[in-house]
Amino acid sequence: MIKSLTPEIKYVGVDDLDLDLFESQYDVPEGMSYNSYVILDDKVAVMDTVDARKAADWLENLEEALGGRKPDYLVVQHMEPDHSGAILELTQRYPDIRIIATAKALTFLGQFFDGRTFNTTAVKEGDTLELGAHTLQFILATMVHWPEVMVTFDRKDKVLFAADAFGKFGALSKCGYFGEEDDDWACEARRYYFNICGKYGAPVQVLLKKVLPLAPAVIAPLHGPILRENLGEYVGLYQTWSSYGVETEGVFVACASIHGGTMVAAEKMKEILLAKGCPKVALADLTRDDQAEAVEDAFRYGKMVLLAASYDGGLFSPAYSFIHTLQMKAWQKRKVALVENGTWAPSAGKVMKELFGAMKDVEIVGDLVTIHSRMKDSDLPALEALADAILQ
Ligand code: FEO
Repeated sequence: MIKSLTPEIKYVGVDDLDLDLFESQYDVPEGMSYNSYVILDDKVAVMDTVDARKAADWLENLEEALGGRKPDYLVVQHMEPDHSGAILELTQRYPDIRIIATAKALTFLGQFFDGRTFNTTAVKEGDTLELGAHTLQFILATMVHWPEVMVTFDRKDKVLFAADAFGKFGALSKCGYFGEEDDDWACEARRYYFNICGKYGAPVQVLLKKVLPLAPAVIAPLHGPILRENLGEYVGLYQTWSSYGVETEGVFVACASIHGGTMVAAEKMKEILLAKGCPKVALADLTRDDQAEAVEDAFRYGKMVLLAASYDGGLFSPAYSFIHTLQMKAWQKRKVALVENGTWAPSAGKVMKELFGAMKDVEIVGDLVTIHSRMKDSDLPALEALADAILQ
């Protein structure tokens, strides 16, 4: 499916609608897009390839867009396999093509395609590539979200090729190539951002400071729709997300319950919070709901109540895995309140305190509430007090 961003810049990417898990870990119920673009000027530049799973479809799109011309350059902004998976096929089909990438990306190229020889040129911050009317300016995007990443700004049409930044889960045939059928970009963009780039807030801030003064008119990411309207809204969300700011006022209640008893307390906690005037309460079952969505909500709200069962003298593993993932994603500037459940030797609270206590800029508020097997009326004052503590 070829779409024109501008008269000379075409979208030639592909959708992947039969992918079970992106990165072998993230649910993608609406599929995934691997975006790629071609710039047709005196010289022809291809902007990234796609995942090997869809190489044949992509080459077909590319050939159609090329209309019999041969590409001069392949700009590799990101070497992760979802974007570099068709490099070999492309270079075999067009052996004179020159790969333009950072020196670090060229090192990775050698790792992924051991023993192959490519025509390459390494570029660094601020280097440019003249295609004719179009001049491409390269901007390092180190750790957004690999170390070799760069983004590219087309000075003529003011298109920012943004690599993984401003990406989103979901196939473009579902949301529209320009997001025209996307009524909530933030939902899957937020889940994508925090799970993939969440740890790298500072590098994202550095990148925003470099690219925003260029005043891009179009943002062309490697996943998700091409953005060309309301760019301020998307940039504003990226400013909030990358600075670990609070996007939505409210409380996220996360629960890991074995036999349902802890979940009853979680639902009660939600009811108490709403009764006390909390503007929004989101509740997740960590044993069954998508963990990536729970991670997203933990970042979206500034406050969290975590209720978990004890298990094997420690913490029930869905809660352990969730906290560990938050720690990996540099969850910070947040408050958390804790509830443990246990029948004979409650142990979840101690582990949760240790894990959150080791995290930077995370405050544990209120007193740990301990439930013995099933929530009772006698537990309600402690839950009320904990709700007051998190809402303060
Ligand atoms: Fe879309 Fe970091 O790869």
